[in-house]
Amino acid sequence: MTERRIGIIVNGASGRMGYRQHLVRSLLAIREQGGVELADGTRLVPDLLLVGRNEEKLHTIAERHGLTEWTTDLDAALADDRFEIYFDALVTNLRVANIRKAIAAGKAIFTEKPTAESLDDALALAREAKAAGVVSGVVHDKLYLPGLLKLRRLVEEGFFGRILSVRGEFGYWVFEGDGQSPQRPSWNYRAEDGGGIVADMFPHWNYVIENLFGRIEDVYAQVATHIPERWDEKGERYEATADDSAYGVFRLEGGTVVQMNSSWDVRVDRDELVQFQVDGTLGSAVVGLWGAKIQPRAATPRPTWNPDVPDAHDYRADWHEIPDNAGPDGFDNGFKAQWEDFLAHWAEGRDYPYDLLAGARGVRLAEAGLESSAQGRRIALEPLTEA
Ligand SMILES: NC(=O)c1ccc[n+]([C@@H]2O[C@H](COP(=O)([O-])OP(=O)(O)OC[C@H]3O[C@@H](n4cnc5c(N)ncnc54)[C@H](O)[C@@H]3O)[C@@H](O)[C@H]2O)c1
Repeated sequence: MTERRIGIIVNGASGRMGYRQHLVRSLLAIREQGGVELADGTRLVPDLLLVGRNEEKLHTIAERHGLTEWTTDLDAALADDRFEIYFDALVTNLRVANIRKAIAAGKAIFTEKPTAESLDDALALAREAKAAGVVSGVVHDKLYLPGLLKLRRLVEEGFFGRILSVRGEFGYWVFEGDGQSPQRPSWNYRAEDGGGIVADMFPHWNYVIENLFGRIEDVYAQVATHIPERWDEKGERYEATADDSAYGVFRLEGGTVVQMNSSWDVRVDRDELVQFQVDGTLGSAVVGLWGAKIQPRAATPRPTWNPDVPDAHDYRADWHEIPDNAGPDGFDNGFKAQWEDFLAHWAEGRDYPYDLLAGARGVRLAEAGLESSAQGRRIALEPLTEA
């Protein structure tokens, strides 16, 4: 079997996402399984160059995983022809400058979202990548969650009939940091450092919605900073300047209404940290990260409103869990699956659908959400198919 090596620069290798999901769960896992199999049977095997600020951290990570190449010098990494792909998992506000350098160095780009803090910057990156003829990809990991893979199956099989509405709840309690330590990096709560739940989550909602339900025609959002002060990694108090909750309503081409609550200030009374209820003329589904249950029209109970007697009906019992049907190995890690898909597209010279332009649509939804909230009005979104 032919083997082809592919050099990947991993910038932000010590970060929360860069280390756990991208390095360990994706790229190292791909190496361990012997690479990605291409259509012609060739196996594409990644060679990794770790990049970061802190030499000690990089050294420790490299040793732990048997890697030999790391550097704190991004320019030197970009000048190295052995590495053809640049991956970025840095904090959001450093992304544009670094990706821009990587495009100029002729590297293919794979990046975390959001691709930029403003639509202008996001579009500029998409244009620059196109002009330089480099392949680009942006994470869209939520589409690979088992629950959402099951949802896609339901949509494609026509289970719902006409989809009327989608209600999504995402969130959990993120500790403020004065007592128990916070479970997310503090920059997420500072607007000046690229934080905010809209910038973080609306790019995800954009690709989830446009790939499963249709194009978003307009958005109305109310955002809030419910908790105005938090404590950082060093236990120091800081002002939380970024939005920590967002209540969005998206109207789609075709009439479906999607309502999404995103919050780091809610306590969970759901089966999972994210949950979507989809209601259609022929049936409904409730899906989470993993699970998916359905209720077809023919098995829908007939509730009647009666405030005089306690309702003894167990509504939750009316739903049917749908099986994984994912083969003997179950579902793969979503980050790894999207890496494999991106690498295969890159190697086979195919256009990648989740590119910097798709990433820019995600940034646009975030920007429009914030604008809607600031102005108290609905913002229309024209089709965005060219940078
Ligand atoms: N796809 C997802 O589900 C998902 C989830 C969380 C975060 N993210 C995105 O991933 C990115 C990273 O988030 P995270 O939670 O891993 O953050 P993090 O703070 O854990 O990691 C950020 C990385 O940036 C580096 N960094 C920070 N400041 C720097 C500086 N001044 N110079 C050079 N490097 C610097 C850090 O060393 C670290 O490697 C963000 O853009 C975020 O939006 C995506």
